Amino acid sequence: MLTWDPHLSVNIATIDEQHKKLIEMACELDRGMRADYATDILQPQFRQLLEFASLHFRTEEDLMERYTFPGLVTHRHDHLALIRHAEEIMERTTWGKPLLYMMGILDFIGNMLINHIQRTDREYSTYLNERGVF
Ligand SMILES: [Fe+2]
Ligand SMILES: [Fe+2]
Repeated sequence: MLTWDPHLSVNIATIDEQHKKLIEMACELDRGMRADYATDILQPQFRQLLEFASLHFRTEEDLMERYTFPGLVTHRHDHLALIRHAEEIMERTTWGKPLLYMMGILDFIGNMLINHIQRTDREYSTYLNERGVF
């Protein structure tokens, strides 16, 4: 499923590392679902993924703020929407449902994550690089 690929790089080391970790955490959840792990293992895993995503978003927002990136407000809204959406999904999810149902949820989250990295995160890349952030 999800894998890190150099074309996902935003050319800033800390951010790339966090993106790799996010993808790795999503993959772990994927493996757990396929191995039919119990809900009390999967649910905290999902929560940890969300917690790390929040921390990562703060890292990006702090960087953008420090260098007065003009797209900060829009980007922050995107982060908020992503977290809200994922939390909604987590609340609605009936854990222990058939694998196909669970995989659909994870695919959806994975796509949101990859889309955000590929499109929205790319927007600050050049701006911050030009100001010496790598
Ligand atoms: Fe990001
Ligand atoms: Fe972002």
